[in-house]
Amino acid sequence: MNKSPTEELFWDTAEIHEIDGFWYYAERMKPMAAFRSQFECRNDDVFLASFPKTGTTWLKALCHTILHRHDQEEEEEEEDILTKKNPHQVVPTLEFSFLLGRVQHLLLSPRRRLMHTHLPYSYLPEEVTRSPAAAAAAGCSKLVYLARNPKDTVVSMWHFYNQVHKGSAGPLSVERAVESFCSGVMPWGPFYEHVLGYWEESKKRPDEVLFLKYEELCREPKEQGRKLASFLGRSFPSTTDGSGGTDDDDEVEKVLWRSSFGRLKELEVNKYGAVGEQGLQLSHTIYFRKGTVGDWKNYLTLDMAQCIDQVTRVKLQGTGLSLDDF
Ligand code: A3P
Repeated sequence: MNKSPTEELFWDTAEIHEIDGFWYYAERMKPMAAFRSQFECRNDDVFLASFPKTGTTWLKALCHTILHRHDQEEEEEEEDILTKKNPHQVVPTLEFSFLLGRVQHLLLSPRRRLMHTHLPYSYLPEEVTRSPAAAAAAGCSKLVYLARNPKDTVVSMWHFYNQVHKGSAGPLSVERAVESFCSGVMPWGPFYEHVLGYWEESKKRPDEVLFLKYEELCREPKEQGRKLASFLGRSFPSTTDGSGGTDDDDEVEKVLWRSSFGRLKELEVNKYGAVGEQGLQLSHTIYFRKGTVGDWKNYLTLDMAQCIDQVTRVKLQGTGLSLDDF
């Protein structure tokens, strides 16, 4: 069968379509379009955005915990919602289920809304991307983007899609995953254009768009956690304790622990729960694999790593952005 240039098969099984330079699952296009045209923004909304396999699960857990940490302090441990639901159930990805009514409770909630999207910046509803001047006049929602180094993203994606798309021909090789990643022909791809869309916007509107990196969150969690909380208007109270430290350390550490890989991975809900996705029941364990930086060294050959590095160099040249794995 001849496919038009704007249709491809991803992972040998899933139909993807191209719109304005980005690729999307065919079955997602209706809810995406509905989200884009029907979504009504509130000034205090918080949007999270990320490319798949760059730490979305972590970002969702972390932001939820930061925003609701005082509610949780008043509650018993068993009331912590993350012990009952996977982060993807707590913070939905809007375009997945916009037409199914599954996000209705969130959209109508009187509380501050926390939502996620994998869509590129250029596809977001206009209300979310309005110009700085319009945003300043009307008040503006906040947007947090999480990026990750490309080589770990590829490896994470290879593990993930081999579970999600179990084609009749068996798992795809790492080589094929690298090819797919570098060509950009993959759901929500190309990766680099996705990252750069948000990067450019974060430079233009730093008060409304915060750009974080997975590696920095791993390396300096407290500093990054404080930055994120302050951006969301939920700063940790910071008073010096007389010995050079600050009194907020306990609170920051608690938030980081609640959303940490080690804790979430071991929770019953994430060990045994499952989510309905693309007609499959996906086990929650799929979202918690290793959670480290540099795992690519265990999977990519030197040639593959050099090939990705070369594409990264070309794509990021002159942008001021680096996506190194340190
Ligand atoms: P690995 O496959 O490298 O282990 P996403 O959430 O966007 O699907 O990304 C998944 C990646 O984030 C996986 O990476 C997963 O292990 C990691 N991850 C999930 N929860 C995390 C957490 N709380 N802290 C750090 N990494 C986490």
